[in-house]
Amino acid sequence: MPNKTYGLTEALLIIIIKLRMIVCFCHPTSDRDVDAIIDEGARTVEDIGRRCGAGTGCGCCLDELRDRLAQRGVAGCPRDGARDAEAPLVTLRPR
Ligand code: FES
Repeated sequence: MPNKTYGLTEALLIIIIKLRMIVCFCHPTSDRDVDAIIDEGARTVEDIGRRCGAGTGCGCCLDELRDRLAQRGVAGCPRDGARDAEAPLVTLRPR
């Protein structure tokens, strides 16, 4: 079987098609990984974070995670991923 040689354009296209886009660098996760997690039932960025860690580091990928949820028809809460959500919004002082 003869070896096929590729031109530069063909070789670059093959590389691009085979490469995965890394969405989260803190917890290396690809776009395909995130899409699979969404397809398995993740409905918020917190769901995605619990399953693979994406979005639980510096937070730079949160917008991409929200975009991927929206692209797959999952409308999460606009405050998903907000770091202050776990803290009480108001602290009452006793009189
Ligand atoms: S890049 Fe995803 S949490 Fe930092």
